[in-house]
Amino acid sequence: MFTIGVLASGKGSNLKAILDYIKKEKLPIKTGVVLSDNIESFSLKIAEKEGIEHLCIPEKRHKTFLSAGTEEKYVKKLKECKVDLVCLAGFMRVLKKVFLQEFPWKIINIHPSLLPSFPGLAAWEQALNYGVRFTGCTTHFVEYGIDTGPIILQAVVPVLKEDTPESLHKRIQEKEHLIYPLTVRLISEGKIKILNRRVYISNI
Ligand code: GAR
Repeated sequence: MFTIGVLASGKGSNLKAILDYIKKEKLPIKTGVVLSDNIESFSLKIAEKEGIEHLCIPEKRHKTFLSAGTEEKYVKKLKECKVDLVCLAGFMRVLKKVFLQEFPWKIINIHPSLLPSFPGLAAWEQALNYGVRFTGCTTHFVEYGIDTGPIILQAVVPVLKEDTPESLHKRIQEKEHLIYPLTVRLISEGKIKILNRRVYISNI
């Protein structure tokens, strides 16, 4: 069975969307483990409710990175659970090269903008402040850097005159909940290949 591990820091709506989609479509995908750096993360409660192994691995020394020792704990747990794919779902830490090398092109992320525009925090607010007419969300393979790596799927969201940061983020998240589960499915079905850092998708 294709096994995923999900890393999340926040409210866990993308984790929930992935789990719901797997159930609805009866996909042969197992969620082996949910890990969080934040004991308050709702993702841990979602995992508990679904009977999925879950664990908080906190990081005390850094705010945006994980120290080497903490990264090791994440890697060890993901390996123990034999995950085929690591899904970052609002995991607000930048992974270092050692972590990435353990899972070459096997870590994916969702970001709330049309990358490469607006990497980093509160991307919906960056888009609103910049004044773009369209923004959206992106799934991508993770490489070293902030929200960089070969792009898999994108969805476009128009920016409306009356948008507030909250209303825009809400509409972006509706699209995230479509493209992230679909991305996981396509990878599990072997329909995604990377060639010279470009992603090719077959038969959808
Ligand atoms: C999502 O909007 C995701 O795109 C964003 O965090 C939110 C998590 O929501 N990720 C990033 O900004 C990564 N740079 P969730 O906890 O409800 O899934």
